[in-house]
Amino acid sequence: MIQLGVLSGDGVGPEVIAEALDLLGMIAQLEGLEYELVPFDLGGDRFLRTGDVLPEDEIGRLARCDAILLGAVGHPKVAPGILEKGILLRLRFDFQQYVNLRPIQLYPGVEGPIRGKGPDDVDMIVVRENNEDLYVGAGGFTRKGTAEEVAIQTSINTRAGVERTIRYAFNLARRRALVGPFRGLSAADRERGLLRQVTLVAKTNVLTFAHDLWMRVFTLVAGAYPEIKSEYQHVDACCMRMVTNPERFDVIVTTNMFGDIITDLGAVLQGGMGLAASANLNPERTFPSMFEPIHGSAPDIAGKGVANPLAAILSVAMMLDHLGHARGAERVRGAVRDVLLAPAPRTPDLGGNATTREVGRAVRDALH
Ligand code: NAD
Ligand code: IPM
Ligand code: MN
Repeated sequence: MIQLGVLSGDGVGPEVIAEALDLLGMIAQLEGLEYELVPFDLGGDRFLRTGDVLPEDEIGRLARCDAILLGAVGHPKVAPGILEKGILLRLRFDFQQYVNLRPIQLYPGVEGPIRGKGPDDVDMIVVRENNEDLYVGAGGFTRKGTAEEVAIQTSINTRAGVERTIRYAFNLARRRALVGPFRGLSAADRERGLLRQVTLVAKTNVLTFAHDLWMRVFTLVAGAYPEIKSEYQHVDACCMRMVTNPERFDVIVTTNMFGDIITDLGAVLQGGMGLAASANLNPERTFPSMFEPIHGSAPDIAGKGVANPLAAILSVAMMLDHLGHARGAERVRGAVRDVLLAPAPRTPDLGGNATTREVGRAVRDALH
């Protein structure tokens, strides 16, 4: 029996997770999947009530789950960082979820923001390193609050951490080759036997220590994947090209900080924050992996019942894939695809006036 930890969190988190769970209930029935929900009361409300962020015994209970579904954390009445670092980053780090997988895929029927670029052009996936870089919290202040104040925040990059992430990206490219070759390859590339592509996105021209390490490891690992084209782009140029030529990207591998930033841009390429799903993976399966929409608690629309639940629902599909239920995952994505092909119902972020619940129900009705 699958034990599923549920951390609905703050703001729109509980609203979108409710739809994700209803959908999971239906898929489980259709697929004969048995699971048990293990709810966790964590987030801004609990912190404001009790001062608890993430008590040790709850970490232990979470560690015993097979997977975790998370809505979002972040509360307007709580100082920035307390919940984000104390819950989200703590779990990503403690459970060694070192790959943050973020597909960027424009579904047919969704209007993308770029003229002339459709679903065939926007189909990439970002492998974001998820345990290192500026996120480790290495740093501090001296002379805080004075005119001579110094603030330091260090980017940590380990050889082992970089290598396992890059290797994951190349293996992912190999798996994508099974579905078909990357459409962005030139005829010459194909003649050379190339099937897929991995792009390293970094800033080797400035971060000449950290990203020198990334580049060296990337080149080394690439050597073991002769059928995968490897290329490099600086992060600034990558942002530009994601907009002008999204069809040039297949698999992107990048650092934690850059991955955070380029995947919000990627979310827009696929129709907005309401559609962007993600998986925080512990590939060794020593610890549970965690699945969440990439959006936050969206305080500006929280409580109105109009948040788009599709990002959370597509995160459930990623969870099903991870748990070995590829067919169930495909069913979820198929239902989302069907819903998006119709002009309604749509939440306001997609130009409609439907509620979270109406869209959730439409996806359940489209399951087959
Ligand atoms: P956000 O992603 O919450 O919101 C950005 C914009 O996208 C807002 O206009 C919001 O209304 C819109 N949006 C987000 N999700 C949507 C959905 N499902 N449907 C329709 N529109 C949606 O980012 P923010 O405003 O920068 O952050 C708000 C809080 O969330 C902060 O406290 C931040 O730290 C936190 N945060 C948490 C996570 C997480 O838990 N994974 C991720 C990002 C931000
Ligand atoms: C995300 C979020 C988090 C991140 C924050 C809330 C810590 O923006 O999941 O993209 O920066 O990773
Ligand atoms: Mn982010």
